[in-house]
Amino acid sequence: AKVTVISRNGEGREVEAENGLPLMEVIRDNGFDELLALCGGCCSCATCHVHIDPAFVDKLPQMGEDENDLLDSTDHRNETSRLSCQIPVSDALDGLIVTIAPED
Ligand code: FES
Repeated sequence: AKVTVISRNGEGREVEAENGLPLMEVIRDNGFDELLALCGGCCSCATCHVHIDPAFVDKLPQMGEDENDLLDSTDHRNETSRLSCQIPVSDALDGLIVTIAPED
């Protein structure tokens, strides 16, 4: 899938995302160092927080309780917030625009 990542300075870039990889890894491996992903995808740090294109929110796997609780601990949660380590890339995400959330 092709996804567009928008960094904190507002610059967007389209990247190729391999199916099955967590979206977090796709973002980080494409040089967006500001996505710290400190826990490495264990759903325990919330530093992989992103805002999802509203058109895609319903196409994502449902949020788990851990993810929901962690997002509550962030300062910039909104209705499009997700933890990018909890989103596996699939063809359904082709065309997704994902914005890295402001730093907490
Ligand atoms: Fe830590 Fe996603 S990388 S919660």
